[in-house]
Amino acid sequence: MKQAKLILDRDYQIGTIDPRIYGSFIEHLGRAVYTGIYEPGHPTADGEGFRGDVIDLVKTLNVPVVRYPGGNFVSGFDWRDSIGPKETRPRRMDLAWKTTEPNTVGLHEFCAWAKKADSSVMYAVNLGTGTPVSARDVVEYANHPGGTELSDLRRKNGSADPLGIKLFCLGNEMDGPWQMGAKTANEYARCAHEAAKLMKWTDPTIELVACGSSSLWMPTFGDWERTVLDECYDNVDYLSLHRYYGNPHNDTPDFLASTMDLDDFIKTVACIVRGAKGKKHSHHTVNLSLDEWNVWYHSGGQDQEIYKNNPWGTALHLLEDIYNFEDALLVGLMLITILKNADTVKIACMAQLVNVIAPIMTREGGGAWAQTIFYPLMQASKWGRGVSLAPIVSCEKSDTAHYTDVPMVDAAAVEREDGTIAVFAVNRDLSEDVVLSCDLRAFGDVTLVGHSVLHHDDMKATNTENCPNNVIPVDITPVMEDGCVRLPAASWNVLLLKPNK
Ligand code: AHR
Repeated sequence: MKQAKLILDRDYQIGTIDPRIYGSFIEHLGRAVYTGIYEPGHPTADGEGFRGDVIDLVKTLNVPVVRYPGGNFVSGFDWRDSIGPKETRPRRMDLAWKTTEPNTVGLHEFCAWAKKADSSVMYAVNLGTGTPVSARDVVEYANHPGGTELSDLRRKNGSADPLGIKLFCLGNEMDGPWQMGAKTANEYARCAHEAAKLMKWTDPTIELVACGSSSLWMPTFGDWERTVLDECYDNVDYLSLHRYYGNPHNDTPDFLASTMDLDDFIKTVACIVRGAKGKKHSHHTVNLSLDEWNVWYHSGGQDQEIYKNNPWGTALHLLEDIYNFEDALLVGLMLITILKNADTVKIACMAQLVNVIAPIMTREGGGAWAQTIFYPLMQASKWGRGVSLAPIVSCEKSDTAHYTDVPMVDAAAVEREDGTIAVFAVNRDLSEDVVLSCDLRAFGDVTLVGHSVLHHDDMKATNTENCPNNVIPVDITPVMEDGCVRLPAASWNVLLLKPNK
């Protein structure tokens, strides 16, 4: 049997995990909002029209923060359209997704939904077609206690207390030509800087995320980050990164190796940020917000058939990727990578949360169920809070079509507040189990008190409304002999270790 070794030590620490790395994202896109989180008349809907079955699943994921309302959508969105009596809110063409936005769910409704889901809002302002002034206005509307036109308007609209939004994104993917009001690095840098100033002068307690380049493959990557940080380093708190992976050529080993790229990407951006800090002689620390990440390739993006049948419709079936077991393995590997970069990545949002490239699916008038990718996120969110430990893994390595020296086993480890150590480990080998020997140094003797395994013999297995438990984690009898644990071929594992003293 194949062998691997994991060394952990109490003193080898990467950093404290910010719970917001288990964040998510809801955009006014497809059926994320309408027939996703919101469906008045659904048997589980509450008085405000929010689906109870969806809220229950979101609560199971324990999502501390949800990015909203976009995404590409936000670059053409006027937040004022989304407040006031519902019947007077305008219906607008959304040029990002070629649909009609009814604005039935707006700012107040989404904040109320987030509260019900035990989460908080990460609100993206429009810096595409919007302005620094419209960005500061929403901060005043949402957070100022009262006594000004905008804060009193909020009170009139039903919220005497401030909405209390503490985290804002300064636009979305602003270097992307697909973005309404896309900008050059200099244009965005100036706009973001002025917006940041006004927003923080309005409410100094908020935190701001500046847009990094929309992707590693953009020609703007690198220079964009440097230009933006040169301008607004001291006024922002995070720089964003977005990353999606797919398996379009059905090359599973290569697909499962993609987190080598993610790790490299995160570390490269962290170095750029560090360089900007040095250049500025700044004492301020800017961290990373990986505010869109996931597997995304099953759906055809903007599927022309859908539009042909329903031009400018609402709640179209857009980007409804059906995830399989190997996607769940990659999501597990992405979470491992995020945990191993917990010193710089303080916010991460799986994109997205419901129906649109999402862990949760719904049927209009019907059920809600968890896709395969739901489970690694659920388990990492549950067990992966505390201090991220630096795992030293030695194992066999192999090459794939795009990557060299891909380790057979990848792992992250967390020392939790209750003293237990959670190890998240993926065995990338598709055919052989591996025996993982655990050397826990200063932790001393430990007992394996839990072992959960996510595995399916069919890499393409999925969950459906009628068969929602086809791919789910299973608690197996924890067996540790001479410090060794067996990780099944092609599996995501959660090991819970308890120090004996
Ligand atoms: O998450 C789907 C889309 O992907 C978002 O709207 C955009 O920001 C990204 O390109």
